[in-house]
Amino acid sequence: MSSLTREVEARRTFAIISHPDAGKTTITEKLLLLGGAIQLAGTVKGRKSGRMATSDWMKMEQERGISITTSVMQFPYHGRTVNLLDTPGHEDFSEDTYRTLTAVDSCLMVIDGAKGVEDRTIKLMEVCRLRDTPIFTFVNKMDREVRDQIEVLDEVEDILKIQCAPITWPIGMGKQFKGVYNLYTDTIHVFKPGQASVIPDDIQIKGLESEEARALLGDLHEDLTEEIELVRGASHEFDLEEYLAGRMTPVFFGTALSNFGVREMLDDFVKWAPSPIPRETSDRIIAADEESFSGFVFKIQANMDPKHRDRIAFLRICSGKYTRNMKMKHVRIGKDIKIADAVTFLAGDRSHVDEATSGDIIGLHNHGTIQIGDTFTQGEMLKFMGIPHFAPELFRRVRLRDPLKLKQLQKGLQQLSEEGATQLFMPVNNNDLILGAVGVLQFDVVMRRLKDEYNVDALYEPVNVNTARWVDCSDTKKLEEFKRKCADNLSIDGGGHLAYLAPTRVNLSLAEERYPDVVFRTTREH
Ligand code: G4P
Repeated sequence: MSSLTREVEARRTFAIISHPDAGKTTITEKLLLLGGAIQLAGTVKGRKSGRMATSDWMKMEQERGISITTSVMQFPYHGRTVNLLDTPGHEDFSEDTYRTLTAVDSCLMVIDGAKGVEDRTIKLMEVCRLRDTPIFTFVNKMDREVRDQIEVLDEVEDILKIQCAPITWPIGMGKQFKGVYNLYTDTIHVFKPGQASVIPDDIQIKGLESEEARALLGDLHEDLTEEIELVRGASHEFDLEEYLAGRMTPVFFGTALSNFGVREMLDDFVKWAPSPIPRETSDRIIAADEESFSGFVFKIQANMDPKHRDRIAFLRICSGKYTRNMKMKHVRIGKDIKIADAVTFLAGDRSHVDEATSGDIIGLHNHGTIQIGDTFTQGEMLKFMGIPHFAPELFRRVRLRDPLKLKQLQKGLQQLSEEGATQLFMPVNNNDLILGAVGVLQFDVVMRRLKDEYNVDALYEPVNVNTARWVDCSDTKKLEEFKRKCADNLSIDGGGHLAYLAPTRVNLSLAEERYPDVVFRTTREH
């Protein structure tokens, strides 16, 4: 086995999907603690944007470059190198959140044990489905009065259409929470309170029927034994292949806040989660351990440092290695460029290092030549697939305060849409400029950047659009008829593609029914 293959096989690149407040930030912090990347839990907290106004968050992001240091967090664990990619979740939820999911090999789904499956999780799972991404599940907040967990797993299976295979099972909940029982190793992991910010003691009791277990559980013992039997009968047995195919999720329980159950999950995660997977390109499938470097850009972060107008393009390495000063081919523009100062993200810090391996993320300084979806190689002219635009769900019409600035506005919106900050739609029947976004913060970012970078003073107006679909039809005659009849709903997007803007869901369903030969897509390739 080559040393590259060995390094690639040690990589675990993943993201967390969850609904706001389920505990993503808290669990991230505990993962970093377990990985030795931070000394004391409590340091990631400041990043949380949930309880801050949008403008505060943006200021904070600018002043401290906060989101780049937490955008990718790399830490070692049990001989593996773990890359955790942040998925913006509160007001900062955006298309970036979705696209980050195209740059990982697997996901960890965090569910609030009291709330079960929530909206945002459903949406993020839909994105994971596009690539059958393997999913680990952590059911959080067992230190609270949560719901019947069998019911919660039924909900996951019904709504998210994925089979659940509990690996651990909670013993009690709320004040009675005693730990978790591993169904496969017949081991109780005992919860000891008061260890939220240190690596917790690893207290194990072997055997549910052991004297020690009986002593620990007292009256609870009988109930737990019955419950475990029920769980074994009612749930699926874990099957690694099914997990890797995205059809089954191993489920773990615990409390991120009290720092319990996370380690038990992480131990199995680094064993079972896939190492960097082969990636599809326009020409061929690229294996992660090919020697030749390749990768794609999935996110561009602007205004990291207000003094430098610093933009960073996040590139997921799909094969080979990055080394300092290496030459890469920027495939779309057909040029070779020398990359001297890529940023890496070791231990949550933004630092310049000399090497990064397939599966890792590097940040390239970008002065406007890099777009989302761009491929970089060591010469081969190919393009990575599956880094799409996602149909926006929020829309605004842009109005200029100064009509003489129309050219700048168009240019600005075009560039910002190429960069992925937002999506631009130009109706075929009028001269409106409509912006579409997945998260509301995207609109604020665009407005501010129009002002700062293009000197354009504009404002938003509401527009009667509920959702968008990219449309296509192999039969040109039928396409022409569709275009004629639906002209009022059709727009050209920033990339020159035809899109159907629907004022309501019902309108969209009717259009889909009426034109069965037209394909309505929720994603579009860059
Ligand atoms: P998010 O990133 O997914 O939005 O969630 P975050 O970790 O910020 O957690 C949301 C809230 O849930 C926080 O409380 C956090 O302390 C709490 N929480 C996380 N894990 C657990 C858990 O295992 N048990 C309990 N009981 N609570 C948990 P908050 O009061 O909203 O914020 P804060 O004041 O603690 O910062």
